[in-house]
Amino acid sequence: MEFSGHPRLVRNAAESESEMTELVLPNDTNTLGNLLGGRLMHFIDLVGAMAAYRHGRTHVVTASMEHIDFIAPVHVGDLLILKSRVNRAFNTSMEVGVKVWVENTIAGTHCHVGSAYLTFVAVDSQGRRVPVPALRPETEDEKRRYEDAGRRREMRQLELERKRAAKAAELAKA
Ligand SMILES: CC(C)(COP(=O)(O)OP(=O)(O)OC[C@H]1O[C@@H](n2cnc3c(N)ncnc32)[C@H](O)[C@@H]1OP(=O)(O)O)[C@@H](O)C(=O)NCCC(=O)NCCS
Repeated sequence: MEFSGHPRLVRNAAESESEMTELVLPNDTNTLGNLLGGRLMHFIDLVGAMAAYRHGRTHVVTASMEHIDFIAPVHVGDLLILKSRVNRAFNTSMEVGVKVWVENTIAGTHCHVGSAYLTFVAVDSQGRRVPVPALRPETEDEKRRYEDAGRRREMRQLELERKRAAKAAELAKA
């Protein structure tokens, strides 16, 4: 799906920046008192969607969540800080980067505990895919994230083609 007939809207990465803070409660943790990975993925999905909404200004659905790194455990009572931004917008999809920190409220220190990349697809109220504004990277970091997002998309597409070819070969054998 491509834009046609009118100039494509352009937004900055900073316009999509979103932040969420959560206090880790016993219900969110495993038997060791550490935050459950699935609960953290839920928070990552939510803060990622916020950035995608702000960029697309439309409904979005999560198409994929990849490259989640759980770097350090998060404990009950910790303050979780999640930040997200759109790294790059394609046609109807956007790659969002999420970074997660823990704030030790007593010491006032911050520790990076996780990172993730997600792809959201913009849809209208009927669930039909809609084009999203382009993203204009401005800072050096934004330009690097923009280029990296393009490389990740290429790799995803190659993998998809490989799977399709393997499936076609399997069907041809049957
Ligand atoms: C995501 C979804 C809209 C893609 O629809 P589709 O008909 O398969 O669309 P296409 O294959 O034509 O791809 C559409 C766009 O999504 C992107 N996309 C599709 N699958 C993707 C994936 N697994 N990872 C990343 N991007 C993906 C494509 O690259 C394309 O991007 P572009 O328009 O910017 O070029 C569809 O699969 C869907 O509705 N999935 C369920 C979403 C959902 O419910 N999420 C919550 C999970 S509980």
